[in-house]
Amino acid sequence: MTRRNFLQTGVIAAAALVDANAFWGERFRGFFEKSYRDYQKELLLYNRELPIPALAKYRYEEEYKVFDMHIQESLHPFFEGELTRTYGINSSYLGETIVMKKGDKIKINYSNHLKEPTTMHGHGMHVPAKMDGGVHQVIVPFATWSAVYEVKQEAATNWYHPHLMGETARQVYQGLAGVIIIEDEQNLPKEYGVDDIPLIIQERRFINNQIDYSPSRMELMRGYRGGEMVVNGAIAPKFQATTRFLRLRLLNGSNASIFKLGFLNQKSFYLIGGDNSLLPNVSRLSSILLSPAERAEIVVDLQGLEGSSLYLFDKLSGKEVMKIEVASTLKKNIFDPNHLIWLEEVPEPVKRRKFVFGMRRMRFTINGKSMDRNRIDEYIKLNEPEEWIVENPMRMAHNFHMHATHFRVIERNGSSANVRAWERGYKDTVFLAPGDRVKLRVVMRDFASATDPYMYHCHFLEHEDNGMMGQFVVI
Ligand code: C2O
Ligand code: CU
Ligand code: CU
Repeated sequence: MTRRNFLQTGVIAAAALVDANAFWGERFRGFFEKSYRDYQKELLLYNRELPIPALAKYRYEEEYKVFDMHIQESLHPFFEGELTRTYGINSSYLGETIVMKKGDKIKINYSNHLKEPTTMHGHGMHVPAKMDGGVHQVIVPFATWSAVYEVKQEAATNWYHPHLMGETARQVYQGLAGVIIIEDEQNLPKEYGVDDIPLIIQERRFINNQIDYSPSRMELMRGYRGGEMVVNGAIAPKFQATTRFLRLRLLNGSNASIFKLGFLNQKSFYLIGGDNSLLPNVSRLSSILLSPAERAEIVVDLQGLEGSSLYLFDKLSGKEVMKIEVASTLKKNIFDPNHLIWLEEVPEPVKRRKFVFGMRRMRFTINGKSMDRNRIDEYIKLNEPEEWIVENPMRMAHNFHMHATHFRVIERNGSSANVRAWERGYKDTVFLAPGDRVKLRVVMRDFASATDPYMYHCHFLEHEDNGMMGQFVVI
C-alpha cells in the first residue's frame, strides 16, 4: 500500500468514526487530520500558482452592462491528479469577478443549473430590495434571475454569494462566491491580476479529496471551521509579484473562521480600504482581523524584497495562507497613500435601535426572535439617521451584517479608540467578540418599499442558517 492509499483509507475510517460518535469522532478527526495535513503539505504547499478569478465578460443592452453568470456543478482540481466535486459560477469553484463603477447601469443574469434552488446576493451592494438577491429572490433550477440596478456607491470590494434560507452555509462551502469590484479613480495599483489581486480566503475540510461539509450539532452551534487554507480555490498557492506595490483585496470567505492575517517577520503593509469603501486615512499595520464576510484592501511595498519570498499567514491558527515570490527586479507602479477619499459622516441620530444576540430552544436569535421570512422586524424611515447598538452577551463570537447600505462604526465597548483601523470607513459587517458591544450609525437614503424586506444577520453562516437573522423595510 502506498502512503497515499494508506492515508485515504484512514480518512474514510476516520469519517465513519465521526459519524458513529460525534464526540469521540471529533477528537479522532482532530488527531487524524494532522497527519493528513502533513501529507498534503508535502504535496501541495506552494506548488500551485494562485488562481486569479477571470473577469466576467459583459455586453451592452442599451445602456446596461449585462453579465451572464451560470451557477453550476463542477469538478475542481484542489489536489494533484484528483478532481473534487464543487459548485462554481462560470468557473469550477468560486465565481468570475464582476467589475463595475459608480454610475454604471448593471444587469446580472444569474442562471441556476443546479439541481436545487439558490439565490445570489450582492453583499455590500446598495440596491433596491427586489434586486438584493436575499432570502426572497429564490432562483429555482433552470431559472434565471436578474439583478438590475444603477451603481450608486463608492469604490469597494464587495462579493456575491447565495442567501437561501437554511442552505446558505452549505452552498457557499461548496464554492458559490465571487468578488464584485467597484472601481476607484485614485492613484492605486489597479491592473487586475498583476498588481491588483483579489484573495478569497477560506477554510475547507476535505475527506478523500472531496469537500466535507458535515457539521455536527456542536459545529452548527460553533460554526464550521478548520481544514485547509484555500485561496481563490487553491490550497496554499504562490503568487509571482512583478511590481513594487502590490494591492491585495482580502475577503474572508469562510463560513465561520476568524482570521488574523499578516506576513511572516512582521512585515508591515498599508491598509487602504475596509468593507465598503477606501479609508480616509491610510495606516501601516502588521495584521488585520477579519471575521466572515469582512474585507480589507492592503498595499504591500515589495521594494527591498526583490528575489525573496513573503508568506501570508493566519496568526490565530498559525496556518500558512500563501506565498508571494518577489521578482528579482520590480516594475514601477503608482501608489499615492495621501487623500484617498472623503467619507460622509452620518448626522446625529434621531432614533436608536438595539440588536442583542441570543439563543432559544437550540436556535440562534436576535432580540429574542429567530428569522421568520414572513415577519418584518424593523421599520426604518428614509433619511432618518439612526444609532444601532449591537450586543453580544454570548460566550461565542458573532458578527453583524446589514443589507441595503453601509454603516459607520462609532464605538466599540464604549470607546471610539477601540474602533480598529479597518473599521473606520463604510462598513457592512462588524465583528463582535464574546461580550462586545458596538455602536453604529446608519441612514437609509434610497429604496423605500414597505413590501420588500432587507436582511440583517450574523454572517457566521451556520448561525445565519440557524435563525440569527431578521428583516427590515425602509419606509
Ligand atoms: Cu453576505 Cu446577507 O449576506
Ligand atoms: Cu449582504
Ligand atoms: Cu453568529
